[in-house]
Amino acid sequence: MSKDKILLTGVGSYLPKNKTSNHDLAKYIDTSDEWITKRTGIKFRHFVANNEYTSDLGTNAAKLAILNAGLKPIDIDIIIVATTTPDNTFPSTASKIQKNLGCSAISFDVQAVCAGFIYGMTVGISMLKDGHGKKCLVIGADSMSKILDWNDRSTAVLFGDGAGAIILEKEKVKTKFCENDDWGILASKIYTNGNFYDILNTDGGVSKSKSIGFLRMNGKEVFRHAVEKLSSSLLICLEECNKDISQVDWLIPHQANQRILDAVSNKVKLNPNKVISTIADHGNTSAASIPLALDVATKRGKVKNGNVLALQAIGGGLSWGSLILKVGKPI
Ligand code: UT7
Repeated sequence: MSKDKILLTGVGSYLPKNKTSNHDLAKYIDTSDEWITKRTGIKFRHFVANNEYTSDLGTNAAKLAILNAGLKPIDIDIIIVATTTPDNTFPSTASKIQKNLGCSAISFDVQAVCAGFIYGMTVGISMLKDGHGKKCLVIGADSMSKILDWNDRSTAVLFGDGAGAIILEKEKVKTKFCENDDWGILASKIYTNGNFYDILNTDGGVSKSKSIGFLRMNGKEVFRHAVEKLSSSLLICLEECNKDISQVDWLIPHQANQRILDAVSNKVKLNPNKVISTIADHGNTSAASIPLALDVATKRGKVKNGNVLALQAIGGGLSWGSLILKVGKPI
């Protein structure tokens, strides 16, 4: 019997050229490599050039994901860009990327900050299921350096810029692989609690102050919520698809802090060797961090056919969520 399945069929990522170390930052911020490494695990982050925009990062990542899936840009039906740092207030960065790619896909942005990629995937999955198309490009792209206050060392050292992209395809196929088994997207859960609006936000915005503002965060509070909410949403997702934590091959989380990754794996009793961490090289790239980590894991040959992947993220809103998928095609 064949069924409609949503498959992950391609992944790609892009980092801007300027790679900046903790030592580089310590030249103009009152900080140290020792503090940043010990408190976060971050060693490097990449920053966009002055004439480089979020749409440029997203376009580069998208081209690689499309190529990796064996497709052409004109094959794409839907483009969803998760970003908090659009090129312009409007139109969407997705519209710009559509133009850059030269296709006519339905294109729009989603804004759920660091959780944006999980939100974007969830919206894309629903649109594919509802018949809006068969091939969806989901991009996470952010230029967080544009909203950092370089006088606030507690946030300025945490973030970096970058983009990652994936292709989701709806297929009616019965594969030899995973026959009589679940495969493709198995479960997805997204949540928002606006009561925590103030613990991670910008101090400006279009309707509030006609400026973009700077990123502000109560790090300790966000940390506490992150460990609790990422753990619980992951376990709920696993329950929904009748899997337990021992069946997860790779946890590919949002990369905010190595201590959060460690605390979550400890809380859900997942072997820490099964957690993909790119925090040392990328820092926190907001909506881009999950597809960037997925691409790194794939290039290192870690992600194999039949693997169960758990993706998860939390960010401003608070917004958070988890998603489980079984790889049913080589990527
Ligand atoms: O992506 C969205 C989700 N974001 C997150 O999940 C981030 C969650 N939060 C965190 O990762 C951590 O809370 C931080 C990394 C942001 C901060 O770590 P912390 O262990 O909570 O440190 P803290 O804010 O309590 O600061 C401890 C000390 C303070 O000094 P005193 O008051 O103890 O003397 C800070 O002033 O560290 C000082 N400090 C710094 N020192 C050197 C803060 N930032 C820096 C810095 N360099 N960059």
